[in-house]
Amino acid sequence: MTAKKILVAPSFLSANFLNLQNDIDMLNQSEADWFHLDVMDGHFVPNISFGMPIIKQIKKAATKPLDVHLMITEPDRYITDFKNAGADILTVHYEACKHLHRTIQIIRDNHMKVGVSINPHTHIYLLDNIINEVDLILVMSVNPGFGGQKFIENTYLKIEMLKGLIAEKKSKAQIQVDGGVDESNYKKLISVGADILVAGSYIFNAKDPSLNIKKLKTF
Ligand code: DX5
Ligand code: ZN
Repeated sequence: MTAKKILVAPSFLSANFLNLQNDIDMLNQSEADWFHLDVMDGHFVPNISFGMPIIKQIKKAATKPLDVHLMITEPDRYITDFKNAGADILTVHYEACKHLHRTIQIIRDNHMKVGVSINPHTHIYLLDNIINEVDLILVMSVNPGFGGQKFIENTYLKIEMLKGLIAEKKSKAQIQVDGGVDESNYKKLISVGADILVAGSYIFNAKDPSLNIKKLKTF
């Protein structure tokens, strides 16, 4: 065990949508820290997931912060709507924003924590001018759009470089990693600098999801 506090944010993409209440109760009672909600528009990513109505329902029953990961183009159009739906943390993609600095300000003005996510092909150096403006950087360790994909090994190097940039710029940003996170890689991810682990299939496809959440909190 180390002293570093790691947050775990289970991704609802792999939850049972026929009985969301059951999975929400499980997360409320588990050691999970945030509910990670993946919003996809079929345009920025080749998949469509869910939007405001589902988030509003989850908000009614969740006792932990809603961490909303937007995989949508031009997210500025919906920032206030996501706030009203119950988002506590709002993450947008670097690749989906024409005026990222402005987008970050709008999220702040709406009193949410701000995250910026980068795809596997996007270089850490591009974050140089916004690293002091955000609460977290979400490093995608798969190409966004689907749960259950294979973890991309180059992610370790990216997290190390990001850690370096954060230190150099004296930023307070936390590092979140999302995609293919499981028992085989989470310890190394934490050792290179990850602060927040997102996991979907590793948690929701397990016989005992709470146990797998607990495992990710033990290192
Ligand atoms: C992928 C999403 C992830 C996804 C993770 O685009 O952002 O949050 O649900 O699922 P796993 O952990 O199964 O890769
Ligand atoms: Zn996600």
